[in-house]
Amino acid sequence: LYTREEVGRHRSPRDRIWVTHGTEVFDVTDFVELHPGGADKLLLAAGGALEPFWALYAVHNQPHVLELLREYKVGELRPEEALPAPAPFAGAPPRPPGLRVNSQKPFNAEPPAELLAERFLTPNELFFTRNHLPVPAVDPGSYRLRVEGPGGRALSLSLAELRSRFPKHEVTATLQCAGNRRAEMSRVRPVKGLAWDIGAISTARWGGARLRDVLLHAGFGEEREGEWHVCFEGLDTDAGGAPYGASIAYGRAVSPAADVLLAYEMNGEELPRDHGFPLRVVVPGVVGARSVKWLRRVAVSPAESPSHWQQNDYKGFSPSVDWDTVDYSAAPAIQELPVQSAITHPRPGAAVPAGELTVKGYAWSGGGREVVRVDVSLDGGRTWRVARLTGERPAPLEAPVAAGAELEIVCKAVDRSYNVQPDSVAPIWNLRGVLSNAWHRVRVTVS
Ligand code: MTE
Repeated sequence: LYTREEVGRHRSPRDRIWVTHGTEVFDVTDFVELHPGGADKLLLAAGGALEPFWALYAVHNQPHVLELLREYKVGELRPEEALPAPAPFAGAPPRPPGLRVNSQKPFNAEPPAELLAERFLTPNELFFTRNHLPVPAVDPGSYRLRVEGPGGRALSLSLAELRSRFPKHEVTATLQCAGNRRAEMSRVRPVKGLAWDIGAISTARWGGARLRDVLLHAGFGEEREGEWHVCFEGLDTDAGGAPYGASIAYGRAVSPAADVLLAYEMNGEELPRDHGFPLRVVVPGVVGARSVKWLRRVAVSPAESPSHWQQNDYKGFSPSVDWDTVDYSAAPAIQELPVQSAITHPRPGAAVPAGELTVKGYAWSGGGREVVRVDVSLDGGRTWRVARLTGERPAPLEAPVAAGAELEIVCKAVDRSYNVQPDSVAPIWNLRGVLSNAWHRVRVTVS
């Protein structure tokens, strides 16, 4: 039995690194280097409680993490040492009902799949939410955006200046999280991360200043010698004070065609708090992780963002790579996403009436590559029909089905570069469960 004070003396490899969880005490010295989130993040908890840090990283709240920790248990806290409650999520915005919640703290939620293809633009209340950290409360009156980097002037812009100095530009863009459809991947083999169904993807009409205009105004040129990046930082910070961050290539940031926005509007309304109020980046065609919310800083830099989410997360690996062998520096950060599609109606396990069956879904591809075709099968992929693509209007496929049949409905999309989706999940399985874009399969019975 130990006191908290005794645990607090173990903060370095020399003195051993101890942490507590609940009333249990663990010596994690031998695990520090293996920590998927990085040794430095785990060391923040050295000598103290894990809970405040785990509250920030929802990925820990899973039974296998606790099981792993148990291997390192060295004792218990004395019964009189009660845990002070961590409160990093106080002041969260009210959440609209109707979303399927994957984690409360931080808040992560997706729209019900059935609703996703009902409208081309996802209403703000149903737009999926992907937060890694507590939502910051930002006073729009005193808010400033900093823009800086070598070769330009440092700017500090208020919201009013952003609105008045730069023309308002509007872009319809889909955001998709790298973890969309992760649940299907974890059915092949367990992965680490939130179990998103097919709804970590949504589309909005975004309004704001072009990042290009702001960078040119700050004196940065159309082109730069060598490989430069534009790094973004959010106002949301982890327990150690590090902000959420990400970066994109400089060329994309200044490209007039890439339409990268500093958005203050979403579907004609001011940004909701969960989606980055008062200002966020929107990078069309690129993984959602780069569209940094609650933007506080834009920095032109010769290096990518040093953030955990650029360097160690949101990267793809071979199915052969596991948590013992993963080398984050070996893979590039995900930027443009591969072609994707999914069936939103009917839902898996449904009993559908005999007669005419209507199949609905969505299809999208990264990098601005338009979807040129969606193939739909009712027999697991043996025979195919081509779905009608009608752009902004819903595009159902109608097919006659006979009573008593069991159908495996499958869809796969083809993009402008004739990229297609892989037919199964296993060959694209990866330890973080990202880039899950195999043919979507839905089994139903005809009643
Ligand atoms: N920006 C900040 N500051 N903090 C975050 O946690 N999450 C990123 C990105 N921008 C995140 C962020 C991820 S992983 C995604 S998928 C998108 O925001 C989700 O945007 P949304 O919540 O508006 O759908």
